[in-house]
Amino acid sequence: MKIAVLPGDGIGPEIVAQAVSVLNALDEKFEMETAPVGGAGYEAAGHPLPEATLKLAQEADAVLFGAVGDWKYDTLERALRPEQAILGLRKNLKLFANLRPAILYPELAGASTLKPEVVSGLDILIIRELTGDIYFGQPRGVRTCPDGPFQGEREGFDTMRYAETEIRRIAHVAFQTAQKRGGRLTSVDKANVLETFQFWKDIVIDVHREYPDVALEHMYVDNAAMQLVRAPKKFDVIVTGNMFGDILSDAAAMLTGSIGMLPSASLDANNKGLYEPSHGSAPDIAGKGIANPLATILSAAMMLRYSLNKAEQADRIEAAVKKVLAAGLRTPDIYEPGTTKVGTAEMGQAVVAALSE
Ligand code: IPM
Ligand code: MN
Repeated sequence: MKIAVLPGDGIGPEIVAQAVSVLNALDEKFEMETAPVGGAGYEAAGHPLPEATLKLAQEADAVLFGAVGDWKYDTLERALRPEQAILGLRKNLKLFANLRPAILYPELAGASTLKPEVVSGLDILIIRELTGDIYFGQPRGVRTCPDGPFQGEREGFDTMRYAETEIRRIAHVAFQTAQKRGGRLTSVDKANVLETFQFWKDIVIDVHREYPDVALEHMYVDNAAMQLVRAPKKFDVIVTGNMFGDILSDAAAMLTGSIGMLPSASLDANNKGLYEPSHGSAPDIAGKGIANPLATILSAAMMLRYSLNKAEQADRIEAAVKKVLAAGLRTPDIYEPGTTKVGTAEMGQAVVAALSE
């Protein structure tokens, strides 16, 4: 089985290196091939998603992705900016289902900005549609405003749209995932204002007829944002569109105290997937050896479970991560007095050591 390893920019290479050593420490051996992506792709081949990198990702059984982006590329034209790499991979590999768990590890309860009773035991999953919505809708651009009070001025515009197939397939993933978890699904929309999301809601209700054992509720996105900080434990699985999912998943991540702990999976219809930490490239701490590699290590575990059919190996990695947390090891982002502060490599090595304990 072949894994495409795309470290990217900022802290990407440091954290991916630790996930790779964890994978190398398993009994199972994987073929891994590395390629540049994001700013690194631009430097190497003049494009954030070089052709050879895309080809490698297409041929591999799974992709392990670090992070992309650096302020120094902000002035490039949009098509050459690092973010286009991840958007291009999602679209080209048809990774329409994005799974973003938000789990509070009991050892880290003090790291959350919310009261312990609000977040202790938190275990929710956001399923974000990833290849449609206003992110990819055409037409888009800047044009001369054709009508209304601002006619003749310049205006920026994007298009929000969802095809029935796109809604149906993400709804099926969501209902099936809810069946394997707590049996509850919240579909988040803005049906009170947007045609696209009234349609979304209608289709989700229709798909629900095939899953009578799942309790479905609908919630407007503004209310969902409020409930996520008010009573997050009321949720089990949340399904929503690309843009709402982008926003809500950052909020959900922070409930756990550290975005440095959260993995994510982006899957196609055949469970081929791209796995990446939920956090970004953090250029401010790049190269300092202090980034938390656990989100990437846990992403590798998700990869073993969802794409490579090695659930026991995934369990082993997750157990090893729990062990190092219980032993009190902390990177600076999750450090509290009374624990032991370690760097990126030390944390990765501790997980490797815990694998064979
Ligand atoms: C994410 C990121 C991306 C997104 C950016 C980097 C394009 O914020 O994965 O959530 O908006 O999807
Ligand atoms: Mn985001």
